[in-house]
Amino acid sequence: MRLLNLSIIFLLLFSCHSSQPVLKKQIDPYQYEINKKVIATNGAIASAHPLASKVGLMIMQNGGNAFDAVIATQLALAVVYPNAGNIGGGGFMVARLANGETISLDYREMAPGAAHRDMYLDDKGNVIPGLSTLGHLSAGVPGTVAGLFESMKYAKLPFEQLIAPAINLAEKGFVITDSEARGLNNLQPDLKKYNTVSNIFQKEHGWKAGDTLIQRELANTLKRIKDRGAAGFYEGETANLIVAEMKRGKGIISLEDLKNYKAKWRTPHSFTYRGYKVISMPMPSSGGVLLNQMLKMVEPFPLAQYGFHSPEALQLMVEVERRAYADRAEHLGDADFYNVPISVLVNESYLKQRMQDFKAGLASTSEDVKPGKIPMNGSEQTTHISVMDKNGNMVAVTTTLNNSYGSKTIVGGAGFLLNDEMDDFSAKPGVPNIYGALGGEANAIAPGKRMLSAMTPTLVLDNEKPFLVIGTPGGTTIITSVFQTIVNIIDFKLSTEEAVNKPKFHHQWYPDHVDVEPEFPQNARTALERMGYKINQRSPIGRTEVIRILKNGKMEAVADNRGDDSAAGY
Ligand code: GLY
Repeated sequence: MRLLNLSIIFLLLFSCHSSQPVLKKQIDPYQYEINKKVIATNGAIASAHPLASKVGLMIMQNGGNAFDAVIATQLALAVVYPNAGNIGGGGFMVARLANGETISLDYREMAPGAAHRDMYLDDKGNVIPGLSTLGHLSAGVPGTVAGLFESMKYAKLPFEQLIAPAINLAEKGFVITDSEARGLNNLQPDLKKYNTVSNIFQKEHGWKAGDTLIQRELANTLKRIKDRGAAGFYEGETANLIVAEMKRGKGIISLEDLKNYKAKWRTPHSFTYRGYKVISMPMPSSGGVLLNQMLKMVEPFPLAQYGFHSPEALQLMVEVERRAYADRAEHLGDADFYNVPISVLVNESYLKQRMQDFKAGLASTSEDVKPGKIPMNGSEQTTHISVMDKNGNMVAVTTTLNNSYGSKTIVGGAGFLLNDEMDDFSAKPGVPNIYGALGGEANAIAPGKRMLSAMTPTLVLDNEKPFLVIGTPGGTTIITSVFQTIVNIIDFKLSTEEAVNKPKFHHQWYPDHVDVEPEFPQNARTALERMGYKINQRSPIGRTEVIRILKNGKMEAVADNRGDDSAAGY
């Protein structure tokens, strides 16, 4: 638990106008604590920012359910966590209603109508560095606001009450943490390069912890959304500001693209693992399918007997990750545009076949492990919120701008960052994206198509009863983090905090090495190296937020130690 050391202290009531319902609880945006673990009876939430988690908690304490909380928390994150919280990006929601119904919502960004498959190539056919990750052309049509309004179908409170905390945080400001100050300071050179007008994030002498960030233009954009609903973003003044920004910066998102954007309800991707039911995100996220592949490939092996971080367990998990990512590169893309062979990819005999060349104690190579053959008939930043309420509604939302601070382009006059999600398409077969991930025809760019994602908002049921709400940011490492956290809990019987915080590892087929966090144990590294694996130490992997329902029915919310992530509950 950490207390921010701040001088100015006063409280804000989260109501914008006297005509709006005044929420009884208060949040102090100038002094707040980070809570890594909370045990709750009535409602629990974990998100990337303490103020956002407090907003979700306050909404539940004021009569809202888990859907109200997740909507208000996403809006708050768009203000207090600009490197990934957003209204200029997209996301996915997986939820289970108190009555047992499971749902999933796709509000992934979409390629603009003027996009085409070679749009990031020069006239020699080479990828132009940075074009799909920085600036106006890297942005897909944002989906978040459409997703929030679709999610309102399951909410109880009026939208104006859910957006009020975000408006207040933007208008009156909040103090930034040390890691936010560092993030904004690192951003300064890109802010100069990729913006056409000056903006609130630019600061000549740099940001420091304890500074107050006030975002008036963003507050006005949020007010237009409050007053006009989704049309306050996709039409009228906000849409005009986005398109004007595109014109100034040679981007291609049009008024028509914005007006036509639709969030889509999807059938969740569900399967069982060692008797537990796993409910995750279907296409256009690869999360559910790859999580299914990885868990089913390890299921025949006695992982618990091998032990946590044992050489046997690590090797097995690395090899299933390698094989799943090889399939992703070849076969996965927006299933509305490409015939993705999902039923084959998760078929148990297909997965058994994929593991036939696995040799215990000896590293495979990615050159030898090709994507599976399908019969013809047949500085990464994202953010995750886990919420559960007293009625048993479980909601997992992962949302993103792609990179940290997305395209680094802020819509002039509207105060929000645009995503650089176009980089999640395959710009050219065989050329890796920013996460080093490969792709081909399945994930080629086409107008109106949604780029392949790795986001894996996931629920786990034990005997049809709520057990885990889980998810994380981390680009391609998202799926391996969710996979490892589930295995850590189910197989290795780790506590929730250990399952979240113990060092993680990652293999994604190419590059052919095992990524490990700095704290990954030396003896485990040595054991893997002896088997022939190349080890690559990298920055921390993921920021996993978990709610686990304990045997006594209480909710244990755990927020990852790797960032300012914070849990709240009551
Ligand atoms: N932009 C990261 C993902 O969707 O996988």
